[in-house]
Amino acid sequence: MTDSRFRIDPDALEALDDRPVARPRAGAPLDPHRRRFLRGGLGLAAAGFFGAPLAGCAPSAPAPGGRPAIGFTPLARQTDPAFDAVAVPDGYRARAFYAWGDPIRAGAPAWKPDASNDWRDQLEQAGDNHDGMHYFPFPDDPNGHGLLVINHEKVETEYLHPNGPTVRQDADGRRRRPVREVKKELAAHGVSVIEVRRDDDGEWRRVMDSRYNRRISALTPMVLRGPAAGTPGLRTASDPDGRTVIGTFANCALGYTPWGTYLACEENWPNYFVNRDAADHAGRASHARYRVSQGEVSNYYLWETAEPRFDATPDPAAPHGGHVNEPNRFGWVVEIDPFDPDGTPVKRTAMGRLVRECSTPSVAPDGRLAFYFGDDTRGEYVYKFVPAGRYRPDDPAANRHLLDEGTLYVGVFGDGGKGEWRPLVHGQGPLTAENGFHDQADVLINARGAADLVGATTMDRPEWVAVKPGNREVYVSLTNNHKRGQVADQPVNGANPRSPNLHGQILRWRERDDDPAATRFQWELFLLAGYDRDADVPDAQKGTIDGDVFSSPDGLWFDPDGRLWIETDYDDAGPDHAAMGTNQLLCADPDTGEVKRFLVGPRGCEITGITGTPDGRALWINVQHPGISFPAGDGKTRPRSATVLIEKNDGGVIGT
Ligand code: FEO
Ligand code: CA
Ligand code: CA
Repeated sequence: MTDSRFRIDPDALEALDDRPVARPRAGAPLDPHRRRFLRGGLGLAAAGFFGAPLAGCAPSAPAPGGRPAIGFTPLARQTDPAFDAVAVPDGYRARAFYAWGDPIRAGAPAWKPDASNDWRDQLEQAGDNHDGMHYFPFPDDPNGHGLLVINHEKVETEYLHPNGPTVRQDADGRRRRPVREVKKELAAHGVSVIEVRRDDDGEWRRVMDSRYNRRISALTPMVLRGPAAGTPGLRTASDPDGRTVIGTFANCALGYTPWGTYLACEENWPNYFVNRDAADHAGRASHARYRVSQGEVSNYYLWETAEPRFDATPDPAAPHGGHVNEPNRFGWVVEIDPFDPDGTPVKRTAMGRLVRECSTPSVAPDGRLAFYFGDDTRGEYVYKFVPAGRYRPDDPAANRHLLDEGTLYVGVFGDGGKGEWRPLVHGQGPLTAENGFHDQADVLINARGAADLVGATTMDRPEWVAVKPGNREVYVSLTNNHKRGQVADQPVNGANPRSPNLHGQILRWRERDDDPAATRFQWELFLLAGYDRDADVPDAQKGTIDGDVFSSPDGLWFDPDGRLWIETDYDDAGPDHAAMGTNQLLCADPDTGEVKRFLVGPRGCEITGITGTPDGRALWINVQHPGISFPAGDGKTRPRSATVLIEKNDGGVIGT
């Protein structure tokens, strides 16, 4: 989030991250029992590939108590203002693997260095701002053949268009964007699915003629399912049934399921819409509590000036108020079956509507499971969803819509490490019509407001969640929050102990009996990020890291052996962060707390997205919005976000 290059109104954007104060208001009752079935075979194609609890969920973990080896020589901080590459330790190599604009398949248009590809070309090319990512192995060769699924979170309009973004001032005084540019931006958001294979010569390559290669974008039709689907709050003039949505965007981190599907998460969507009616906005919880843009234009790209559905100002003359409910159709988990290239993505409303960073699975041997979510805004909450059913490896049909029924919980991080999950269920506790919640759809669409009422703990911008192989210990990165302790509704507490919090922390917990469905847990701080204890900085900027320092943890991932990988997202030119060097990938031993810097990125980038083969010998990470000319590195080619492949020169396990 540190480098969005097209911010029309910095004040409005700043406000977005503040914890809003609006309260839910009444919505209309509806029928949560209507169901419609999908065409296509979501989950079916992949489910047969996985017998045991799963590739990715329960990989080749070390024996309980066994410590993973971390053997590389760590890198120094990279403070060169002209650094324009990725560096990894001696004995490793890294290369750009899939960059913005690369053709999605054989025959698709090549990337033009002057950015003159149009929106139709862009629909067949890699999107921009690569973020969350997951490797899905093929069962016959899991360590040499798979599908890589990659989020494209946002766009760098400065580079996406030949001469940067065009903003026209019309005779009526309103700013407008050209349709052709907006369409290219819509096409550059979303998700890529690409087939990858290690060839006989040992080199990983893309399979260009794969039937699986696919782009999903902000122009791709998808369906809504679960308790809120079809309800009045999801109906618009364009979709009176409230069950069909065009597109997904702001896909930041991710999740996946044991039945082999990908979960794209929708994060900063409130910036893409505008409600120009201040009074309506203030009284409409689904806008105000999520900080949908308010004012003349949307916070980010002004799409509403070229695509009417992004203008969420109520239109009393239009059915369902025009597009006033369009923002309610974003903020969900989007389930995508990468093995069904014709399948329709599904937005799962039972999992709640958030500014959702991630959807990380935890699966017990008996099939009980949970998905953990961060809502990445200052002072927002950590959530989990527990499906009503269990994962059944031998029953794909039972898994297909497992995400449509279950309980959404929000976390309370209490004193003494005592944690509690409080259910967000209509009719329970304060979640009643009296408080504006007429049914479960109201609760799910206004999950933030429901969480307010049950007393959830405000957190320092929850980003990724990672679940440790073996004991299912859960780690969450709380990236930073300069308002902590500075505003009345975000007081310092045990889980968020620093004011102001410029560098973030990683917190961890174990569910009671290691049961993903438990409602009690025990938490502790794993580390506070920041400078060394003896650094010449204010005390609030000093961390507790044992090893190499960093700021603003964001991406978090356990490899199959149980190493914890940490990715950072801070402003590497900012006064409080410049001495940290460029953004980084670090490797931590979760048992000892030791942290070593494994990778440093090019100037201006965020390091995010991480996945690998089950054997740990191939690792992919994403370099998002590099600032100079990466990956070309020639100082003049426009920079491109890119997936980077990392391997060990001796073919060994990454990190050893
Ligand atoms: Fe897109 Fe919260 O990072
Ligand atoms: Ca992130
Ligand atoms: Ca971030």
